[in-house]
Amino acid sequence: MMRSHYCGQVTEALTGDTVTVCGWVHRRRDHGGVIFIDLRDREGILQCVFDPDAAEAFAQADRLRSEYVVKITGRVRPRPQGTENANLSSGKVELLGKQIELLNRSETPPFQIDDDSVGEDTRLTYRYIDLRRPAMQKNLRLRHDVIRRIRNFMDANGFIDVETPILTRATPEGARDYLVPSRTHPGSFFALPQSPQLFKQLLMVSGLDRYYQIARCFRDEDLRADRQPEFTQLDVETSFMTMFEIMEMIENMVKMIFSEVMNVDLGTLPHMSYAEAMGRYGSDKPDLRNPLELVEIKDLVADSDFKVFANPAKDPACRVAVLRVPGGGEKLSRGQIDGYTQFVTQYGARGLAWIKVNDKAKGRDGLQSPIVKNLSDAALTGILERTGAVDGDILFFGADKFKVVCDALGALRLKVGNDLGITAGGWAALWVVDWPMFEADDGRWVSLHHPFTAPKQFDAQEVRNNPGTILSQGYDIVLNGIEIGGGSVRIHRADVQQAVFDLLGITPEEQQEKFGFLLEALSYGAPPHGGIALGLDRLIMLMSGAQSIREVIAFPKTQTAHDPMTKAPGGVDARQLRELSIRSTVQPKSATPGAV
Ligand code: AMO
Ligand code: AMP
Repeated sequence: MMRSHYCGQVTEALTGDTVTVCGWVHRRRDHGGVIFIDLRDREGILQCVFDPDAAEAFAQADRLRSEYVVKITGRVRPRPQGTENANLSSGKVELLGKQIELLNRSETPPFQIDDDSVGEDTRLTYRYIDLRRPAMQKNLRLRHDVIRRIRNFMDANGFIDVETPILTRATPEGARDYLVPSRTHPGSFFALPQSPQLFKQLLMVSGLDRYYQIARCFRDEDLRADRQPEFTQLDVETSFMTMFEIMEMIENMVKMIFSEVMNVDLGTLPHMSYAEAMGRYGSDKPDLRNPLELVEIKDLVADSDFKVFANPAKDPACRVAVLRVPGGGEKLSRGQIDGYTQFVTQYGARGLAWIKVNDKAKGRDGLQSPIVKNLSDAALTGILERTGAVDGDILFFGADKFKVVCDALGALRLKVGNDLGITAGGWAALWVVDWPMFEADDGRWVSLHHPFTAPKQFDAQEVRNNPGTILSQGYDIVLNGIEIGGGSVRIHRADVQQAVFDLLGITPEEQQEKFGFLLEALSYGAPPHGGIALGLDRLIMLMSGAQSIREVIAFPKTQTAHDPMTKAPGGVDARQLRELSIRSTVQPKSATPGAV
């Protein structure tokens, strides 16, 4: 080994010892006759001092530049009084340098390691330098620590780690597939797995009983701060366990991680029905740190002359709801209110009616609003009563299709919570349960989870008769308003699975073509089984305090699913395309310029 210690391990315990450290020149300072080199490695930074007494080392130190790689040998001594640095583990000492070996030079780096204002594109182009930053190393080590504990937990609970194929067929998780053309089967494609869903179910049919995998999943979907085209799941499947037993086991694991890594007690996770989550928070992943809630007022305005409210109030597919913001009438400016009206349009809302409660005692005269003139005294009184509004509050209204109102007021709730600083810190985790099996989308039924999720009433006839009302045995785990995992008890009988496929409009031919192997497997003694997948990138992002999962992935893609470092996706040679029997409708980008 070239080093005797990591930089960050050199502490006062080593005072007087001669040590050798290796690392990168973080900073070089010339203090009139003395040169300071801050040397950095993954464990921290060590101040190394060179004085002209050690002439050769001094001359070498003088030639060092940022990010040069060096090996330094010297003697550990206390820093002079008043110059200690409490931010460094080595901050009480310094190394009096005797010898320097230059191991490699560096070009001037595109940015300073401690510059926090570098644009993400530059950071991703030079990710190998970006990852030198202590904050990024901390994130990667947090990730390692979490995954290590997960593996220990799963092992201790009898789970067996099994790898499943990456080159496979489509699994319907709701996104587009990444396709890989087959050379040996011209015109045929593999799909990269959106999750190992079907394979893990087959492993239950095989009698593995408890499976897990730290699995990479691939989904071609619109990217956001918490979505990447390839991401990592803790994927779990078990046999002969009820939904609540599975949830409890996973809850214990998540609580263990938070307790051991963060010293945080998440408490017992509440179970909330999907209907309650949508009703009170307008979201299936409510952030319970935010105290604001939606209130339904359909019954209060159905008879009103105000068509904007009355029409949706009479339509079962619609909702009319109020978001009460305590003190918002006083704290929010007219400009902010107009801004919110603009904000909700991106969720499809056609307006954002509001009422400021200035002086409740004065009845309608104490209310300030563009809509009070349209509402009866009874409706106004009812609204004030039901929302519990008091002087100084503002009420925001949504009246539209159920989903539009939930999306718009749900997002507004989060925005106002942040703007007014009323969203609490800390952690709020919960389970969302009692999901509908299906929702109607443009006259078709679609699964809210995936088509392998079991209905609560496990019966093919139920599925056929009551698709709009049956609930599933699905569950999502939500942390601070982010869905960190989802799972379900599965359909383990071919007749029920077929009924679900039928209802989803998958023809018998398509069922055989795409899922024939699953239906067949279910007919050979499939045990009752169920599982879950946790989005590890999201979980670790939350634990690290980062705003995007890209901060906890070593080599992520940009928002446009592109890697500015390797320049993937890239062109390929015309010969490769020919081998794959592929002809492109756009001019293919050539891998080697001029080769097309
Ligand atoms: P689901 O599709 O809900 O379930 O995915 C499970 C969890 O994976 C995370 N996740 C993502 N993370 C980053 N980028 C993405 N594009 C992305 N998509 C999903 C989320 C989500 O909760 N096979 C089922 C699980 C099961 O039923 O057992 C599945 O994949 O945190
Ligand atoms: P209008 O009758 O269009 O002038 O709208 C009166 C008020 O109702 C305005 O403040 C609009 O922003 C608001 N509004 C219009 N449509 C809706 C809707 N679908 N939901 C909530 N508020 C609305």
